[in-house]
Amino acid sequence: MSQNESPVMQQIVYLNGEYLPMADSKISTQDRGFLFGDGIYEVIPVYQRKLFAWPEHLQRLKNSLQAVSIPNPLTDEEWLDLLTGLVKKHPWENQFIYLQVTRGIQMQRDHMPADCLHPTIYAYTNPLKPLDAKILSHGIKVVSLEDIRWLRCDTKAITLLPNVMMKLAAKQQGADDAILISRDGKVTEGSASNVVIVKEGKLLTPPNSQHILPGVTRLVIEKVANQHHIPFIERELSLADLQTADEIWLTSSTKEAVPVTQLDGKEVGDGRPGPVWQKLHQHYQDYKAEFIAQYT
Ligand code: PDD
Repeated sequence: MSQNESPVMQQIVYLNGEYLPMADSKISTQDRGFLFGDGIYEVIPVYQRKLFAWPEHLQRLKNSLQAVSIPNPLTDEEWLDLLTGLVKKHPWENQFIYLQVTRGIQMQRDHMPADCLHPTIYAYTNPLKPLDAKILSHGIKVVSLEDIRWLRCDTKAITLLPNVMMKLAAKQQGADDAILISRDGKVTEGSASNVVIVKEGKLLTPPNSQHILPGVTRLVIEKVANQHHIPFIERELSLADLQTADEIWLTSSTKEAVPVTQLDGKEVGDGRPGPVWQKLHQHYQDYKAEFIAQYT
């Protein structure tokens, strides 16, 4: 089977107003996303064919576009139609959508974007599988690494080279992921996730700022924690806070909350996913079920 005949390449994607097989989706080599990393993206989970926390993802998409001065090419309704159309074309009940908007095609090299570019809009979807049973029972290993990124991490920019480098560095150190520490010693986030720790039954997480992405999962966790009277507190965290935490979690749209059971080679808590995570994980599943039942 050639690559173009593989099931993945037969998958339908959305590109600039059209749904077409992935194998036929082509963009210009002059796209500023390709040449400059000049674009933004979103990742949206879909449960039982319903877009989860869509208003929050849409708001962040609009914030990202505004932050990098790419004019928003579609209305709220058009964004939703585009993505629900894509979901419908695939057989999976649970999916995650990748949506990318770049500034568009520019023939002459110039860091300064030309006026009147047309943004390139691309979206594809994948099956969203439940977390590995091994992760649920054993958690993951992380290492702390210096956060080598820029000062606009609140923008979901496609320029993810530092994140890729930090993920590779974590792997080279025998870990599954990294928790990033800023140059002034503050915990920022994971390489593709937010960080929540548990101390004496309370959830603590770094406040939103230009140093972290305002995670939608983090927001949902705050909501779920409030519903169940679990204190959720935003405050700066240090490496020492991580080292003395009862539990550490990494949160993201594709993985929900993942328990971290080893930090820099040492056990977190008793080295197993903790009781607060167990509770929150269950509440999160209930929240999703309620969302699906109420979706109109
Ligand atoms: N990433 N911080 C970073 C740097 C991220 O890349 C992500 C998610 C998050 C969590 O955001 P949310 O809860 O809204 O997914 C935080 C996605 C999943 C990705 O890049 O694939």
